[in-house]
Amino acid sequence: MFRFKQELRIPGPTPVPPQVLAKASSPMINHRGSVFKEKLPQILRRLQPLFGTTEQVYMVTGSGTAGMEMAVANLVSPGTPVLCLVGGFFGERWAKMCRAYGGEVHELSYPWDTAASPDQVREYLLSHPEIEVVFATHNESSTTVINDIQALAEARGSHQALLVVDAVSSLGGVPFAMDEWGVDVVVTASQKCLMAPPGLAFVCFSKRAREKARASSGSRYYFDLEIYDAYFQRQEPPYTPSVSLCFALDEALNILEAEGLERAFARHLLMRDMVRAGVRALGLEPLTEDKCASPTVTGVKLAHADAFRAEIREKYGVEFAGGQGPFAGKIFRIGHMGYATPLDMLTSLAVLEMSLDMPGAATSAAERVWKQAQ
Ligand SMILES: Cc1ncc(COP(=O)(O)O)c(C=O)c1O
Repeated sequence: MFRFKQELRIPGPTPVPPQVLAKASSPMINHRGSVFKEKLPQILRRLQPLFGTTEQVYMVTGSGTAGMEMAVANLVSPGTPVLCLVGGFFGERWAKMCRAYGGEVHELSYPWDTAASPDQVREYLLSHPEIEVVFATHNESSTTVINDIQALAEARGSHQALLVVDAVSSLGGVPFAMDEWGVDVVVTASQKCLMAPPGLAFVCFSKRAREKARASSGSRYYFDLEIYDAYFQRQEPPYTPSVSLCFALDEALNILEAEGLERAFARHLLMRDMVRAGVRALGLEPLTEDKCASPTVTGVKLAHADAFRAEIREKYGVEFAGGQGPFAGKIFRIGHMGYATPLDMLTSLAVLEMSLDMPGAATSAAERVWKQAQ
């Protein structure tokens, strides 16, 4: 089968629009020259509506995990009591990272197919007034669960804890209101809803988080917020950034802004609903309940998920993701974030129904959802 036109339907990296890829091959420029000095602050300002903030957005050259580490490196030092909400692979990453920085890690675990409970968080914090930072995940790509960050932020009440959120696989595809919800640090990355290649992370700190970072005595260098601040004041990155990825992101933001954020959010919800209706019409079960279903990736239960994925990749060139942790081999995940359309969802569902010998079952169910939304 013709396999050079691959359909990448994984939760990141996501397909990159051709005009974004073209921009990534622009000639190199001086990252301390006048063009870049104008471009970088513009890009960072244009990201603010995605975070829902008026605070400075910082760019780190590295993957999403580098952004997570920038948060931890500036807020966690040996002995800092932190609470990590662990309901998936990326929640676990927060806990591992905080331990690596010597934090005194409390873990509040919740089942890997549900959302974190704001009530449990409230209770935990009430009985642990010493906690200084709570680490949460907005969209747990590993479990295809979206967490209610507004409710988790409110659950702190008057507790001192800062709230740090991994929004790597949601920002740009799912609404986020950092300032309004009172979130203290938000992290995202270029290769998911932002439609650019991997390699850039973005981190935003509230004023409170910035003060805490200033007072924190932990070791750090590449991620030191103070160094970033000193350079950003003169509109320069502290270290050589991925200039090519900045060009790419600039173009990706043009596309996102032309669509409009509200429409992009609605598109992600529509793709989610089409995929869920389609897989259910095939007699398959989504991993999560509707109430916590991720708008950017859908998990589907299947006994021989990995063999099924391999067959689809081989036969049709459509790449789905596998399960992680307890779901390894038991689910497959359909990514629908970033540069993806409702029509793409029909393609993904078409290969499922062909593989299961149920022609038309999934696509017709999904088409009905799409029609209703028009
Ligand atoms: C929710 C979430 N957090 C963090 C990461 C880590 O990002 P990276 O692989 O870019 O370091 C990912 C990547 O898949 C993710 O989906």
